[in-house]
Amino acid sequence: MAKTIYILNGPNLNLLGTREPDIYGSTTLGSIEESCQAFCQTHNVEVVFRQSNEEGELVNWIQEAGVKSDGLILNAGAYTHTSVALHDAIKASGVKTVEVHLSNIFQREEFRHHSFISPVAVGVICGFGAQGYELALSALLTHLNSN
Ligand code: DQA
Repeated sequence: MAKTIYILNGPNLNLLGTREPDIYGSTTLGSIEESCQAFCQTHNVEVVFRQSNEEGELVNWIQEAGVKSDGLILNAGAYTHTSVALHDAIKASGVKTVEVHLSNIFQREEFRHHSFISPVAVGVICGFGAQGYELALSALLTHLNSN
């Protein structure tokens, strides 16, 4: 049976394309979704791709991913650095999660160096821009197939 992967995006990622392009690039979230859909089609994977600016909605979706998916790719945006609730949701749902960031958060302000997601993630991809989503998909599928 085909695997299902959830790709969830947090606050302000709906603004990709116009948001600080020197840091995040000029690719829109819509275009990232298209690339992910194309990648998943060639790998026979179902993808659910969503974005929310609201922490509670992301918690609900992570719980949903725990029930309905085989794995999760999460760019939690700024909630990465603040959200015990997202950390707990990943842990509680048991969903295998790859954390993604477009920018290299370790090259940036100190407050971005801590992640509440990393301790409950299978792995982290950051600093490769929009390409990070495909790298994450590839890494997650390999992980799921070997674990
Ligand atoms: C981000 C990095 C976060 O620090 C920031 O708050 C974002 C985007 C990234 O993709 O590089 O919103 O997650």
